[in-house]
Amino acid sequence: MGTVHTIGIDFGTANSCVAFASYFDRGHGEVDPDPLRRPQVIQFQNRDTVPTCIHLGDRTPQNPPAFGPAAEERALFDPGRFYTGFKLYLGRQDKAGEDAFQMTKHFLQFLRARIGQFVPIEGAGKGERIETVVGHPVQWNADQRNATLHAALEAGFPSVRLEEESLAALYCHVFDERMGFSPKPGSYVLTVDMGGGTTDFAFLQIPEEVDQRPISIPVHPTPQEGRTYGGRDLDIMLFNHLAQQWDPEVVRTHARVLLREVRKFKEGFSNSLADGAMEYESVLLVGNATRRARLTRVEFEQVADEYIRYFEVLIRGALEEAGLRPEQVTQLILTGGHSRWYFVERILGKVFPQLFVGSRTIFRHSHPEQSVARGLAYDPLVRSSRGGFLPPMRRAAHPVYLSIPAKSAVGLDGTPIADPDPVLLIPRGQLLPFRTEAPLRFRVDQASTGTQETQVKIQFLSGQRRAPLVDRVATFQRGFWEQVISKFPWFGSTKLDRFEVLVNFQVDEHEMILADLAVTRFLGGKPVDVQKQRMRVDVVSTQGRDGTEL
Ligand SMILES: Nc1ncnc2c1ncn2[C@@H]1O[C@H](COP(=O)(O)OP(=O)(O)OP(=O)(O)O)[C@@H](O)[C@H]1O
Ligand SMILES: [Mg+2]
Repeated sequence: MGTVHTIGIDFGTANSCVAFASYFDRGHGEVDPDPLRRPQVIQFQNRDTVPTCIHLGDRTPQNPPAFGPAAEERALFDPGRFYTGFKLYLGRQDKAGEDAFQMTKHFLQFLRARIGQFVPIEGAGKGERIETVVGHPVQWNADQRNATLHAALEAGFPSVRLEEESLAALYCHVFDERMGFSPKPGSYVLTVDMGGGTTDFAFLQIPEEVDQRPISIPVHPTPQEGRTYGGRDLDIMLFNHLAQQWDPEVVRTHARVLLREVRKFKEGFSNSLADGAMEYESVLLVGNATRRARLTRVEFEQVADEYIRYFEVLIRGALEEAGLRPEQVTQLILTGGHSRWYFVERILGKVFPQLFVGSRTIFRHSHPEQSVARGLAYDPLVRSSRGGFLPPMRRAAHPVYLSIPAKSAVGLDGTPIADPDPVLLIPRGQLLPFRTEAPLRFRVDQASTGTQETQVKIQFLSGQRRAPLVDRVATFQRGFWEQVISKFPWFGSTKLDRFEVLVNFQVDEHEMILADLAVTRFLGGKPVDVQKQRMRVDVVSTQGRDGTEL
């Protein structure tokens, strides 16, 4: 019994939004269906969203890093140390990923300081509990989800959970408009979240019976491998178009700030076109001077022709991936700033004509920029059976493979063999959580390399492109006699190191991977050494995090 305060953080590529709510806690995960305080958005400088950006300052105490609107102001006279869009690099295994992690963590710390004025993060009273729910795109892989989770934990948020942004938008509609939004049993609701970095699709299958849980079917259509579809892609396209008229030197030195100027121009242009205008004109700050820019609808449709048409390809790809026909979709939730483009409804209307004639089948929140954060703050209601909406069962958005890249693998006769194919551990669409019933067993033969020690590398791969997640290496020291013998010339070059790898594997409902690995080394057919490792696919190491300039 007590109070649970829930903080919902929609950490976006371009803008972030924070909401909080309070519930009467009945214990055992159950909360009162009527919140003590319904989700409420925390304002930053009188606005419901805060730009996701950082200005690094100059490392002097007088000029520390600045965030959000203050960072944007500083960028005007010191553009070189201004960063935005770093969310898109989260989870990468390189310097850019490392920097993105640091920037995210510091940005979240900045949010935390403000949230602390509304939610007792520091001094929760007796019987008070605080939960944090952070959103992420459906298409995030395990490394990206982990980086998001750990950035929030390291920023000092209590009890952090993750939730998909598009499901959060749906929860917001379910609980904000209890009466208005009541999908029919057996129907499919499609959420399209078009943000700065990504466009996310998620289908929710409403069960036939009231006591059954809905099923969430995340999709990640990739008709063109590796292509992203967010507001930022259009920013870059328009930037390249408009920059043809600007001084190349200014363009080079002010690129990041100019990109932001172009984004504002783009939004003004989009709003005008939505109001029926055929052209738009505005002033941009280019270096130290102002320049007028003008764009007509005809020009835009030439520049962005392929981009606009690709939206339909994506929607049809999403339907195909979910195995659905357009007429099976009975409701559509549209969210994200990028969905305000005039062409979005036109194309959706072409694919789903039934939704545009039906009444109350297309939902846009009255405050779309709040819907993900509010939905995240409704999380306790979704998990509580008293909320009236059962938590969806989830299907995996990504397949997971295991690979043992024995670079120098050789056949028994000593001839080199190609890398063995990765083994599929779970297919896309697998119902989650998932765990192996019996350990998976692999035999690895590889040409021995080092004389002192020998290693076997184990790698998890995720997604259609089989992007590698972090790997694990088991290192075995060679015994003394083995080292001596291997130096004799007659010992031969085809000596093999032989291992057996046993894997017990789990994927939780947020697609986080947990695996127990046991690697046994064999010598002369006998097991000589065993190493056990528990791994959480986890990009956060305790060292090596000091690479950024913060
Ligand atoms: N009126 C508008 N017309 C067209 N695009 C717009 C409009 N308003 C905002 N945008 C674009 O929407 C994007 C921001 O949307 P949103 O705030 O939903 O994204 P985000 O949450 O920051 O990103 P993501 O969800 O991808 O991480 C930006 O690219 C912005 O330029
Ligand atoms: Mg968003």
